[in-house]
Amino acid sequence: MTHHDRLLIIDFGSQVTQLIARRLRELNVYCEIHPFNRVDEAFLKAFAPKAIIFSGGPASVYSEGAPMPPRGVFDLGVPILGICYGQQVMMHMLGGKVEGGHGTAEFGKAHVTPTGERLPLLEGWFTTGDEQVWMSHGDHVSKIAPGFRVYGTSPNAPFAITADPARRFYAVQFHPEVHHTPKGAQLYENFVRLAGFKGDWTMGAYREEAIRRIRAQVGQAKVICGLSGGVDSSVAAVLIHEAIGDQLTCVFVDHGLLRLGEAEQVVSMFRDTYNIPLIHADESALFLGALQGISDPEVKRKTIGRLFIDVFQKHARAVGGAEFLAQGTLYPDVIESVSFSGGPSVTIKSHHNVGGLPETMGLKLVEPLRELFKDEVRALGRELGLPAGFIGRHPFPGPGLAIRCPGEITTEKLDILRRADAVYIDQIRKHGLYDEIWQAFAAILPMRTVGVMGDGRTYDYALALRAVTSVDGMTADYYPFTHEFLGETATRIINEVKGVNRVFYDCTSKPPGTIELE
Ligand code: XMP
Repeated sequence: MTHHDRLLIIDFGSQVTQLIARRLRELNVYCEIHPFNRVDEAFLKAFAPKAIIFSGGPASVYSEGAPMPPRGVFDLGVPILGICYGQQVMMHMLGGKVEGGHGTAEFGKAHVTPTGERLPLLEGWFTTGDEQVWMSHGDHVSKIAPGFRVYGTSPNAPFAITADPARRFYAVQFHPEVHHTPKGAQLYENFVRLAGFKGDWTMGAYREEAIRRIRAQVGQAKVICGLSGGVDSSVAAVLIHEAIGDQLTCVFVDHGLLRLGEAEQVVSMFRDTYNIPLIHADESALFLGALQGISDPEVKRKTIGRLFIDVFQKHARAVGGAEFLAQGTLYPDVIESVSFSGGPSVTIKSHHNVGGLPETMGLKLVEPLRELFKDEVRALGRELGLPAGFIGRHPFPGPGLAIRCPGEITTEKLDILRRADAVYIDQIRKHGLYDEIWQAFAAILPMRTVGVMGDGRTYDYALALRAVTSVDGMTADYYPFTHEFLGETATRIINEVKGVNRVFYDCTSKPPGTIELE
C-alpha cells in the first residue's frame, strides 16, 4: 500500500471516469478507481481516503438497484466531489431531489453563470464571465440537499455547481475532467488543494515504492517475464530487475512477425545494456508454419495466441521453479477488467498478450504498472534510464505483422511489409512527426495491381499506410499528413521496396475502423 495520501474515485460507470484519474495524476495525486459495488464500509476504512470523488454514470437514482455508495461515506469527514450522476447521488442521499426527463436533458457544451457567491473550489473560474462546461445528463437535480448552496447555473441545470462548504461536499452537474470543460483541470486542482494533498506522487517516488513492493511480494522466488519488445513489458522488466536482480528471467518469443531489426534491438538492449537474463526463443518457423493457408483474422489471432502460450511455457520451464509471472498490465486494462457493468461486450478482436498464461501455468502475477497510464509508463521508463528512442516507440500488437497482412501470410509478403514499414517510419521520423502520432505502420493488402515502371508493366502488391492520433487506442483519428508528405513517401516506398507498385493512405478513424487492419 502506498504511503502517499490517497484519493478514492467511486465509479458509477461513466465513460470518462479514467479521465478523472488522469487529471489527478497530472496533479501528482495518488488515486484509485473502484466500482461502487466493491466499496463498502470496511473498504472505506481500509482505504482511508483523504478525499473522494463520485464519478458520473448512466443510471438514474430512481431506477431499481441504482448505484449508490455506502452511507458511511458522508461520515468520514473528508471532502467529496460529486460529478454528474455523482452529484445526483449526493443530493438524493443527503435529502435533495432529482428529476428526470421533461426536456431538461443536456448533452454537449453549455455555459455556466456564477451566482456571485464565493467558493474556494472555483478559484480561477468566472474571471472573465461565464465558463464553458461539458454536460451529459438526462436527469437533473431539482432541489438541493440541506446545507448546500448554488454557485453556478446553466440554462438546463439550475444547480450546475453546488456545495456545502462547511462539510467540504462539492457537487457539479457537468464533467470537469473532459477537455470540453477548459477550466476543469483547475477545478480538480482546487479540490485536491482544499483536501490538503501535497502533490508528491512523483515518478521517483513511485519507482522506489514499486521496488519495495516487488521485493515484498516476491521474496526469494523466481520470476519470469514475457517480453514483447514493447514499452510496457520492457519497463516492467527493467523495474523488476532493479528490485530483484537475477531472480528475474525474461522470455522473448520471436514469432517471425516482428519488424525489421526488432529482435536484434530487444536482445541487445536487455542482454548487453541491462544484463537481464533473457531467453531469446526464435520460433518463427513454428508460427509461420502454423499460419500457412490461414486468412481468417480470428483464426490467425487464436493460432498465434495458442502457440505463444505453448512456446512460452516450454521456455519458462527452463527457468525452473518460477513462482511469478511479470506482466506490463496498465491501468486502463485493470479498469476494463473490473468494470462493474460486466455485461458481455461484443468481441471485436481477440487481443493477444500473455494474459491467459497464469490460469494454465499456476503462476502468481507481478504487475508493477497496474496503476499507470501509458504516458506515465513512459515517464517511469525515463526515470529508469531507458533510451528515449525506445520509450517513445509506437505500440506494437502481440500478433505483430500477422494482423497487418490481411489474407494469407507468406514470407514474401512479410519481407515486403517489413521493408516498406521501415521506409514509412523513416519518413515520419525525418519529417519530425513520429512523436505526434500514436501509431503508424504499413499494411500489405491481399491484392496485386497493375503499374508501369521504366516503360515496363508491373503487377505488384498494394500497401496501405496507416497513422493515427489517439489518447489510449480506444478511439483514434487518422493523422492529417500533407499531400507532399504522402506523395514523397509513396514514391520512396515504390522506388526502394521491390514488389510494391501502389500505396494507399487509410483515412478511417476509429470508430468505425479499428487501428489495426485485422
Ligand atoms: P485496434 O486494432 O483494436 O487496436 O483498434 C487498438 C490498439 O491495440 C493494439 N492491438 C493489440 N495489442 N495485442 C496487443 O498487445 C493484440 O492482439 C492487439 N490487437 C491490437 C493496436 O496496435 C492498437 O494500439
